[in-house]
Amino acid sequence: MTDRLITHLRHVDLAVPDLARQQDFFTGAWGLTAEHGDTGISFLAAEGSPEQYVVRLRQAADKRIDLIAFGAAGPSDVDTLAARLAVSGVTLVSEPGVLQTPGGGYGFRFFDNEGRTVEVSADVAIRKHRKVEEGEPVPVRLSHVVVNSADPEGTVAFYERHLGFRLSDTLMHPRMGEMMWFMRVNSWHHSMAIARGPHPSLHHASFELRGLDEYMRGTGRLLRAGVEKIWGPGRHLAGNNTFSYFLDPHGNTVEYTTELELVDEDTWHPHLYDFSRPEVSDQWGTANAMNEFVAQKSFNDPDKGLFVAPPV
Ligand SMILES: [Fe+2]
Repeated sequence: MTDRLITHLRHVDLAVPDLARQQDFFTGAWGLTAEHGDTGISFLAAEGSPEQYVVRLRQAADKRIDLIAFGAAGPSDVDTLAARLAVSGVTLVSEPGVLQTPGGGYGFRFFDNEGRTVEVSADVAIRKHRKVEEGEPVPVRLSHVVVNSADPEGTVAFYERHLGFRLSDTLMHPRMGEMMWFMRVNSWHHSMAIARGPHPSLHHASFELRGLDEYMRGTGRLLRAGVEKIWGPGRHLAGNNTFSYFLDPHGNTVEYTTELELVDEDTWHPHLYDFSRPEVSDQWGTANAMNEFVAQKSFNDPDKGLFVAPPV
């Protein structure tokens, strides 16, 4: 077991040119709940999650990932991690301190190897959450975030070395080589994945539904609402989770998933799966083919926020 100071994924924060439209999508068809808001910024919670918010939206001229946030067990772990990163030459955006975002807490920010802003925090107040009911097709929690990387091997090494991530599985293609690395910070098979892409950007953000029934109902609600479906429904082999990928109004891919595998970290051995085998991407055989269209949408636009910390 690595000396890991990160406990879990907390939220993904996105900047978008049309905040009103983006918020309508996430609180309408997508099923998140607007919890807190301010001028030009909104915090969206998942009904089943103790996190104050799982998505933060910010109005900005440039579309970008503002930050990806992880939790730590306590303030001393936050301090220890910040000190270790600084000694290792990682650029801190902010020193550990009291957070001004909903739920408060204690945290800091830094740039990863490609300039994404990452936040680590502890002692954030627990949000009053509730059990998502049977048949209720709304997200229970944020499941995972996948990023495109122009240097995926370097990015995987960064998260392993500095944040204690461990590799769960890898996808490869006979012609293209290794393409996707599934990384965990706890027993969830992955909380983050890193995909080989033409540039750093958001590949997709994934939200966990209560179960198969709720996942299918949610998928159907989006289809009926005319939200553009990219890929699915189906069940991946790596992580054994289901997938339905849609596009948000700004062209970010968002996923409904459920039944993501929990692994025994002490005994887990990573697989190398050949995703040119159809059953690797889609065990059930129910999804549309993984083709250029799907890949192109997943590349997203080049992120405009690299090595530029968000203003809030
Ligand atoms: Fe996913």
